[in-house]
Amino acid sequence: MVQRIKSASILVVDDDLGVRESLKMILMDKYYVSTASHVDEATNSLKTIEPEMIFLDIKMPKISGMDFLREMHLKNSTIPIINDYGIPSSQTEITAFRSGAFDYIIKPFEPSEIHTVVERALQHRVESMEKDKLVYNLRMAVHNNFFSTTDSLLLAIDAKDSYTAGHSKRVSLLFGLITKELGISETRIVKLRYGAFLHDIGKIGVRDDILTKTGNLTEEEFFLMKRHPEIGYNILEPINFLKESLPIVRNHHEWYNGEGYPDGLKGVEIPQEVAILSIVDAYDALTTDRHYHKKYSNGTAFKIITEGIGTQFMPALTEKVLSIIKKCNL
Ligand SMILES: [Fe+2]
Repeated sequence: MVQRIKSASILVVDDDLGVRESLKMILMDKYYVSTASHVDEATNSLKTIEPEMIFLDIKMPKISGMDFLREMHLKNSTIPIINDYGIPSSQTEITAFRSGAFDYIIKPFEPSEIHTVVERALQHRVESMEKDKLVYNLRMAVHNNFFSTTDSLLLAIDAKDSYTAGHSKRVSLLFGLITKELGISETRIVKLRYGAFLHDIGKIGVRDDILTKTGNLTEEEFFLMKRHPEIGYNILEPINFLKESLPIVRNHHEWYNGEGYPDGLKGVEIPQEVAILSIVDAYDALTTDRHYHKKYSNGTAFKIITEGIGTQFMPALTEKVLSIIKKCNL
């Protein structure tokens, strides 16, 4: 006897034994069919097998099929869900479609109708998985492209100011470690690190002689230098996925006492994540060679930053950040 290879697995969730059995009879030749008589049983079965599609009764005792439909659609929208109705009401149908149902059948049903619905649903699943893959690949391409582009931008600044590119990488790394220690979520850190990495990107718009000047800047030169956070903000502002990290770029030179730039933010107006970046930025600038100073020891850098608490740096937070730097020997 030739055994047919079954092409997909289907879960039938219905409190009516007759419906479960008849769907199983109709489909079992071509598909793996598992059944559940209520939502809890269905949820349990999902722990072991992920079906390619689901038949779902909306009206069931205890937990309604509609709740299960919403939950499934949120978890994995590529699994098509077909609702089976005894007597459908248009309101229930509308709600089910809005909650993510793919199609519906009305009891009693014809085997040919079931086969047509299943084939259509499985085809839809293949297409939506391909679409998801395409979207994912596109995102990755944009992401990779973004990094190579920004890397080139930073290299361009590096050509103007040899300290900036290395500085951006170190600051981004240090910022990631410190925010993790401070309990900020991994997803948020990933987004904010873009800002840390690109915080000085606006220096691309500052004259080379100002960036590399060894002595004190004149008032006019300092005015031009102070424009780099805004220039950086304007460069990155149109990029949608950088939205959350923009405050870091724009406000990393704000001071706790309101005397920073460009917006003169004061105290708690400065977002905590921005305040962390300012400390890390200062720490790295102090502990590496610059055009205008030789690097300081870690101890001296701690002292200088501690002296700036309450004027430049946010109290309490700065002490926490410094103690993490010390503890982790960063
Ligand atoms: Fe800066």
